Amino acid sequence: MKVKARFFSELMTALSLMMDLDENRKLYHAWRVAVLAERMSLKILPEYRTQIFYAGLLHDIGAISLKDHVIHYTDPEEHFRNPILLNHSEKSAHIVKEIGPLSMAARMILDHHEYWDGKGYPKGKKGDDIHLGGQIIRIADTFDILARVKPPLDLNGVKTSLSARSGSEFSNLICDLMISTLEEDNFFEEITDEKRVSEILPEIIRDLPPVDLTSCDIDVRNAVRVFAQVIDAKHSYTAGHSERVARYTYKLAKAMDLSEELAEEYEIAAYLHDAGKVAVPKSILDKPAALTLEEFKLMKRHPVYTMEIISMVSELKDLVLIAGGHHERYDGRGYPDGASGENIPLGARIMAVADSFDAMTSLRPYQRTRSKVEAKEVLAKNSGGQFDPDISKVAVKVL
Ligand SMILES: [Fe+2]
Ligand SMILES: [Fe+2]
Ligand SMILES: [Fe+2]
Ligand SMILES: [Fe+2]
Repeated sequence: MKVKARFFSELMTALSLMMDLDENRKLYHAWRVAVLAERMSLKILPEYRTQIFYAGLLHDIGAISLKDHVIHYTDPEEHFRNPILLNHSEKSAHIVKEIGPLSMAARMILDHHEYWDGKGYPKGKKGDDIHLGGQIIRIADTFDILARVKPPLDLNGVKTSLSARSGSEFSNLICDLMISTLEEDNFFEEITDEKRVSEILPEIIRDLPPVDLTSCDIDVRNAVRVFAQVIDAKHSYTAGHSERVARYTYKLAKAMDLSEELAEEYEIAAYLHDAGKVAVPKSILDKPAALTLEEFKLMKRHPVYTMEIISMVSELKDLVLIAGGHHERYDGRGYPDGASGENIPLGARIMAVADSFDAMTSLRPYQRTRSKVEAKEVLAKNSGGQFDPDISKVAVKVL
């Protein structure tokens, strides 16, 4: 299936929501930076506003696997002491470049921590060598940090703080542009109001000139695969998990004689099934021992977050319950809803088998890795309990 412009923009928005759910801190950082950068671009780079908007939305996507998100380091000196932070612009740019039509946004992202005076990272670029889009993201990024200090700064306080960094972190021109943007039409009030930001974001997406999708070959499966990479980057034990679950799901669906269309649909849902895990703290995901009751409760929220993320993409709305149901059990003892038997969507029942099979056969901190033969024995043993008996029968044959 070819990607349509609307699907593309919704998918990118969902990707950035996923990032802001990271470690359960819904700070709307990416959204605010995107809204502000797009507004600034209207004055100096209107022809690139779409690329600037997506650059703002995705600028920190490479930081998703970091224990502490880059946005919590308000002291720039801290960045220079932490080599992982120093890498995040390159990581983000790399991921965004893979999305194809956003290659210019990727160049802006690469420069988003460069300083006008050459003291930024990763390359120590100086002055006009820094991509103008990158300069815009830099100041929007700084604004967001200033806007979140407690007690919050008013417009004058923000202006004073920005002016103090003018000429070193960013150019005087960019600083003036930011201040005039904030002063216009109550924009400062809007951008500091989280509810308003989440209303403005979809309005911008609706009005933006669409990304040019003709120049590159991108289909839904590829776009969703980028998503899966970001999900799996979250912690060390899930490398390749989403991709393998997608492959097993497709294989099972085909072996059950479902249509190609349905098999592909389930495959796409499988790529996204653990998207909500980004909201579960890394310390829980990577814990080498059994989870406490409280930790398990948090862990069990991840399919709910997955549903929240997928429902942002209208073209994927049929997949919400399928992806969100991958921890339901045939006997009704699963989560989040405790649905049972045929009340669980077929795609979710298939994915439950694929997901467990991969969890058993790959390295996890809390268990010994089983061979495929052993894992199939578990599937057979739990047939009718955890798993749909028809599906586990097929899985024993084809996985
Ligand atoms: Fe950043
Ligand atoms: Fe940022
Ligand atoms: Fe899961
Ligand atoms: Fe999973």
